[in-house]
Amino acid sequence: MADICLEARDLCKTYIVDGYSNNVLQNINLKIEEGEFVSIMGPSGSGKSTLLYTISGMDDMTAGQVMFDGEDISKLNDKQLTKLRLLKMGFIFQQMYMMKKLCIMDNIVLPGYQAGVMSRDEVNKKAEDLMRRLGIIETADREITEVSGGQLQRACLARALINSPKVLFADEPTGALNSKASMEVLSEMVKANESGTTVLMVTHSEKVAASSDRIIYLMDGDIQGELVLGKINRAERNETISASEKLSLRERKLRKWLEEMGW
Ligand SMILES: Nc1ncnc2c1ncn2[C@@H]1O[C@H](COP(=O)(O)OP(=O)(O)OP(=O)(O)O)[C@@H](O)[C@H]1O
Ligand SMILES: [Mg+2]
Repeated sequence: MADICLEARDLCKTYIVDGYSNNVLQNINLKIEEGEFVSIMGPSGSGKSTLLYTISGMDDMTAGQVMFDGEDISKLNDKQLTKLRLLKMGFIFQQMYMMKKLCIMDNIVLPGYQAGVMSRDEVNKKAEDLMRRLGIIETADREITEVSGGQLQRACLARALINSPKVLFADEPTGALNSKASMEVLSEMVKANESGTTVLMVTHSEKVAASSDRIIYLMDGDIQGELVLGKINRAERNETISASEKLSLRERKLRKWLEEMGW
């Protein structure tokens, strides 16, 4: 069995609004193996984004523990957490947190410069390579308000991958995209996963989730079930059916399971 790189133990998150407490996450226990590609699905308001925020240390938890790469992140101070995020985590969140004063290229290279692991030339080269693969190289010098939602989303992915993170956290990374652009972003995420990055993604799309190894179904802040599809490329490489047939088989299996879950 592969090593566990991310684990939530009895993770709870309660929001208090106007004196009322809302237990958004209730004793979540979840283990993610190194190299896994896991999707979180579930109805709107079920706590998917909250889970991603708390498990990645972007937001505090109310109770419980999160282990990241062998470290209890609740024991880290802000400075240590910031360093861990910069070096080992990549984020694509619904609020994109791009710097408004910087152009697309500068937004992408910034975490690379901040990490100080590669030279600036290496960071620039890597950013250009990522932008080319994602089809947004022509937007490099534009302001973030001068590109489409889909281009911005792809720029977010490039920025998230600039430091080759150990874990990529993505909240509906294809949410704003048409189906062609969705598949392009997904295929870059699959490539990052194949080169060793663990992926934890929230998605509403069955088509997108069908490419992941495992799907977790969240409802009312509780894990209701999980479906293991396995690695798409490795396990199914030797079969005679075509890649698109394999995908649609997985999608059908996923759809059937989601129906059972009450999707
Ligand atoms: N900052 C906050 N303060 C108070 N309540 C919040 C906050 N963020 C989320 N919530 C509440 O927590 C619950 C879960 O929200 P969350 O954003 O995690 O859902 P979600 O599953 O990601 O939904 P969607 O699919 O619509 O993105 C909702 O009831 C929401 O109103
Ligand atoms: Mg959400």
